[in-house]
Amino acid sequence: MDYLEIKGGNKLFGEVNISGAKNAALPIIAMSILAKNDVLVSNIPQVEDIKTFIKLLQNLGATSTLDGSNLKINTTSINSTKATYDIVRKMRASILVLGPLVARYGYCEVSLPGGCAIGARPIDLHLAALEKMGATIEIKDGYVIASAKDGLKGANIVFDKITVTGTENIVMAAALANGTTKIFNAAKEPEVVQICQILETSGVKIEGIGTSEITVHGTNKELLNLPKITVIPDRIEAGTYLCAVAIAGGEVTLKNIEPNHLVSVLGKLSDMGLNFEFNDKNIKIISSGALHPVQIITTEFPGFPTDMQAQFMALACVADGVSTIDERLFENRFMHASELIRMGADIKLNGHLATICGDELNGADVMATDLRASSALVLAALRANGTTRVHRIYHLDRGYENLETKLSKLGADIKRLSE
Ligand code: UD1
Repeated sequence: MDYLEIKGGNKLFGEVNISGAKNAALPIIAMSILAKNDVLVSNIPQVEDIKTFIKLLQNLGATSTLDGSNLKINTTSINSTKATYDIVRKMRASILVLGPLVARYGYCEVSLPGGCAIGARPIDLHLAALEKMGATIEIKDGYVIASAKDGLKGANIVFDKITVTGTENIVMAAALANGTTKIFNAAKEPEVVQICQILETSGVKIEGIGTSEITVHGTNKELLNLPKITVIPDRIEAGTYLCAVAIAGGEVTLKNIEPNHLVSVLGKLSDMGLNFEFNDKNIKIISSGALHPVQIITTEFPGFPTDMQAQFMALACVADGVSTIDERLFENRFMHASELIRMGADIKLNGHLATICGDELNGADVMATDLRASSALVLAALRANGTTRVHRIYHLDRGYENLETKLSKLGADIKRLSE
């Protein structure tokens, strides 16, 4: 198994190219199930989760070629609608095939994703919404069995909680439904917006894109002709590199970003004392060295993203004072705290609240527990005195393209080694 060895203390300088968003590319690939044409997608991030998801579609019978960041996928040859446990267990986002499969084929079986390191993560809201659209849902032998022999029907869906993949699943299902679906309390994340925009370009009538009330006029099973798609930039990868400069010091230009997707993260970094220069799709971050403490509450877009919470905890560990983090979305998303404590951090946890008293960090052996927790450990290591070894980095490989190559080009002392 690979691990990262990082010697702290180097400042970061230069330019880094931000990849396409994993969390946008996944539903886009799922959306290819609604298409009758070859779907061409560029700016696909080269990360493990994408490979896993393409494999899932191949297992169903889809054909695809992935050439660097360009994907061509055709789903007309799908001959199975069963997403099996061996793939779904690797990646919860596999649930994104549920809506498109039942909408197109009227029947599918998708393994229940189960819990994960950051909490129970149920899919009850996805299932209740599909039932409202006329699907029969049964849970049997660890699988969700969804059937809608006569197709899905438009319905009014009110999500009890805002759910990102839930909204994506239902928007995609509604695109092929018979009639109009109104989704209330919909997610407004940029990845959801991109899904809606692609459907709209394909001729599906949609109102309320980017708002909490989305109306989708279904095509009654008429398959779509999807346009050429360019995946939006990864706001979480961008946020992670911004944090890398914040914690290590230096001056770095991030290329191919969307500043509007980063408003809350930039706001918090600015509160912490970082400066920025904007130039179209590029942003330069300038560190003056010191970091002020920060107060964070994770919430839905455009608020502060839970996927940036761990990285900011790493910054808080070396800030000049006491910071607080209130994790409101996932009940168990502080797994990185105990690893940061191994590096000398002063963190007190009380349920979903963390209080972090800034101090120095020292290198240690630490264990990655989930994707974003892993990046927090890498950030902490960039600043820590001495050497840190981050183990179990397969979590990082799920969502960060060439992390160590990008960081070492900026001047970090980081190496991938084998245990
Ligand atoms: C997506 C992102 C993930 C991010 C999260 C929150 C992808 C592939 N993943 O995950 O990186 O951290 O949004 O921004 O895009 N919930 C229920 N029942 C449901 C669905 C969700 O109770 O049926 C709860 C969850 O447990 C959580 C909250 O709703 O507390 C939000 O979760 P949700 O937005 O669904 O997260 P994901 O879409 O799984």
